[in-house]
Amino acid sequence: MTYTRQTFDEVMIQNYNPANFIPVKGKGSRVWDQDGREYIDFTSGIAVNSLGHCPDELVDVLKSQGEKLWHSSNWFTSEPTLALASKLVQHTFAERVMFANSGAEANEAALKLARRYAVDHFGYQKSKIISFKQSFHGRTLFTVSVAGQPKYSDGFGPKPADIVHVPFNDLDAVKAVIDDHTCAVILEPIQGESGIIPAKQEFLQGVRELCNQFNALLIFDEVQTGVGRTGYLYAYQKYGVIPDILTTAKALGNGFPISAMLTTDKISKSFAPGVHGTTFGGNPLACAIGEKVIDIIAQPEFLAKINRTSALFKAELAKLNEKYHLFTEIRGEGLLIGAELIEKFHSKAGDFVSQCAKDGLMILVAGPNVLRFAPALNISEEELKQGFEKLDNALAKFS
Ligand SMILES: Cc1ncc(COP(=O)(O)O)c(C=O)c1O
Repeated sequence: MTYTRQTFDEVMIQNYNPANFIPVKGKGSRVWDQDGREYIDFTSGIAVNSLGHCPDELVDVLKSQGEKLWHSSNWFTSEPTLALASKLVQHTFAERVMFANSGAEANEAALKLARRYAVDHFGYQKSKIISFKQSFHGRTLFTVSVAGQPKYSDGFGPKPADIVHVPFNDLDAVKAVIDDHTCAVILEPIQGESGIIPAKQEFLQGVRELCNQFNALLIFDEVQTGVGRTGYLYAYQKYGVIPDILTTAKALGNGFPISAMLTTDKISKSFAPGVHGTTFGGNPLACAIGEKVIDIIAQPEFLAKINRTSALFKAELAKLNEKYHLFTEIRGEGLLIGAELIEKFHSKAGDFVSQCAKDGLMILVAGPNVLRFAPALNISEEELKQGFEKLDNALAKFS
């Protein structure tokens, strides 16, 4: 039986509309489709395969842990679980870790923890969650309701209550709504899905101070910005603004599903035994991979190289822009880069993605007007060069 893109339309629920080609193999920043056609990957599975496809070190871990223990349930802990948690504690502000399986689940846990902490310490009236317009935090009902994109939360019946949305990077707007009833402020240090919009330094600092003043917890959703993506292990380390709760997912397993919620000892106490849980969270197989990912990415030389590759990547994009004048701005940190299209091409970002695919290059959008580039953090100069040749070919068709 040969499966084709047509099979997708026949047997899959149509909540996605994937590309016409079907990738079957990947190595490093190269991907091959069913016809053996080669692509350079500037997406890394939406900031997930940060060490590239099928890196030898992780394949080794997958095989060796795969022969030992895959799953044990949360009635038993495991060595890889404890090892990964210890490393996350060692490398961040956190004192306690809880594992889950996706970004949405980690955020769901963070929001529930913030609400429960407020109930434990201040009472039920402290339930307001402040969030930002255009933000994205996952697809559970709580996380779509908290995120600032009604198109994802409308049409599912009543939403969780006491959530307010204000413009991102607008400290006065936060000041206007924060009060003693606020239990949490949640934000992405760089808004990813809505167009690669970095938080301003003063904004993050200001929000931190307001949270302190009103005993609200500050939650950083680092699902997309975490695990080295910005050239720091976590983006908060670049800003020097420490959250109370941090969520991480995507690249933590380099494609093997795993996420984590990080917090302090004091806050973690509100998740007493039985208050929250998940069957698969913290399973030994996922954690063994996560531990290796952190071992590699947290090395200072590895992080330093990301910043060098970032400079090169932005310079190449700028060169293409001098040639074709298609972008109004190239922005982002590390290897999370957005190129905003000129007005003529607004709402057309998807056309660029399709054209790039035809030219053998995988790229992403971040909203309708922005091209998003999130290559593997260890992309080689050769892969980068070939990717930019393909991008040049693709962009030429729009100029
Ligand atoms: C900032 C942010 N939070 C949460 C999520 C949701 O993660 P997941 O799709 O793993 O549930 C995403 C996914 O793109 C994200 O970018």
